[in-house]
Amino acid sequence: MSSAADFSAPSRRSPALPPGPGFFATFNFVRNPFAFLDDCARRYGDWFTLRVPGVAPFVFTSDPAAVREIFQSDPAIFHAGKANRPLGAFMGERSLLFLDGPAHLHDRRLILPAFHGERMKSYTATMRSIADAAIDRWPIERQFAIHLAMRSITFDVIMGTVFGLGNSPLAARIRDTVTKLFALYASTAGTLFAVPAMRTDLGRWSPWGRAVRLHREFSSLLFEEFRSRRQEDAPERDDVLSMLLRACDENGLPLDDEALRDEMLTLLLAGHETTAASLSWVINRLLANREIAERARDEVRSVAGGEIEAEQISKLRYLEAVINETMRLDPVIPNAGRELQAAVSIAGRELPAGVVVAPCIYLAHRRPDLWTDPLKFNPDRFLTGRIDPYAFFPFGGGTRRCIGAAFATYQMKIVLARILARVELKPAEGYTARLERRGIAFVPSQGLPAVATSRI
Ligand code: HEM
Repeated sequence: MSSAADFSAPSRRSPALPPGPGFFATFNFVRNPFAFLDDCARRYGDWFTLRVPGVAPFVFTSDPAAVREIFQSDPAIFHAGKANRPLGAFMGERSLLFLDGPAHLHDRRLILPAFHGERMKSYTATMRSIADAAIDRWPIERQFAIHLAMRSITFDVIMGTVFGLGNSPLAARIRDTVTKLFALYASTAGTLFAVPAMRTDLGRWSPWGRAVRLHREFSSLLFEEFRSRRQEDAPERDDVLSMLLRACDENGLPLDDEALRDEMLTLLLAGHETTAASLSWVINRLLANREIAERARDEVRSVAGGEIEAEQISKLRYLEAVINETMRLDPVIPNAGRELQAAVSIAGRELPAGVVVAPCIYLAHRRPDLWTDPLKFNPDRFLTGRIDPYAFFPFGGGTRRCIGAAFATYQMKIVLARILARVELKPAEGYTARLERRGIAFVPSQGLPAVATSRI
């Protein structure tokens, strides 16, 4: 998950970087990143460099041998935290996304058990009831934005399962503050927070000033929640926050409050935008491929005829293949990134210290030498044969692989199963999805307008 990094200039004797587009062409990366990546791959092949003044050169690769070496590399040299920095200035210093080295390993070890595949089962009822409640609110025979509907589901799911917030007045205030903070972050002003100069507090009416005040309010509310949970002493609570409040490292030390706050904000940001975007692309594909949608619906009806239960979810194999095939062609994050702390050789190519090497998820997923008929939407390819993790990596890889991959897949299966079982959707007339950036993810344009024609 990455966009740029602090620039430390490679030395004069550094090896030459792979070729790449000129300065003005890089504006296309902002305007239409996927078309830009396609164009670069056509012109330069497996490796190319993107240069933006003021940030480290970005060296993209879609070569699976290079991707494997990068994901298996020494995290002391390949820093993802530094490469991720501009993603979210307000997430805080101790966000897992921004840490490197021992501090990253320390926090990751504490957080990982809460996202273990087996743990997902306990979230089934919450995820299902949030999806059902949302579906109940959708208008019938009137256009609505699927992406907004998905964001509301994935946000509520994180609030319920990760934060474990119930209906207390304090929970309502945390929700309210964090909703405002995220709305600000996803706005045009918020997108500009990636530029350091835009992070200037000019009072409560300036965008960054507002972000700072909302963050302060969120911190004090969350710290109050930590205190009350610690006093509550309720070992039966199985939400992620309660588990992290109980978790200790090998020295018997828990995460301190600031670190825990930063990790909770990270899980919310990294978890809900990405999952909502992926769900929207799956629905976009189902709307365009009626036969595939009917086959997925038949599977849902035969496996999970009534309300979906934990033990049925692994049986939804075709639905999972539809999700994977969508993440292959419509990845919501186009690349991972690692900033090199020393000169290295990757798949026979010498690269200098200071550059960001970026395994390109989007391009690797479309390579004709790795995928038969690569542009065809064909979920069956995920039902037969083994999938190479260096040809398909929507969740990144190695010690930085997405911590929420099992959580996201589990949630997407439940939400889509409930939609397929309960609603008939049709696309808005004349609509074709284009790519739009929303926060840290790419989403279908105009929020993917669609119409529900019936609901049970
Ligand atoms: C479809 C949904 C999702 C997608 C496509 C996605 C994708 C990614 C990617 C590409 C990375 C970077 C991996 C790398 O650098 O190798 C990442 C990291 C991360 N993701 Fe996700 N993610 C999703 C859902 C979630 C969820 C649900 C959560 C948590 C609730 C989450 C939490 C994180 C965290 C904490 C990291 C940083 C891990 C680290 O640096 O150690 N993500 N994700």
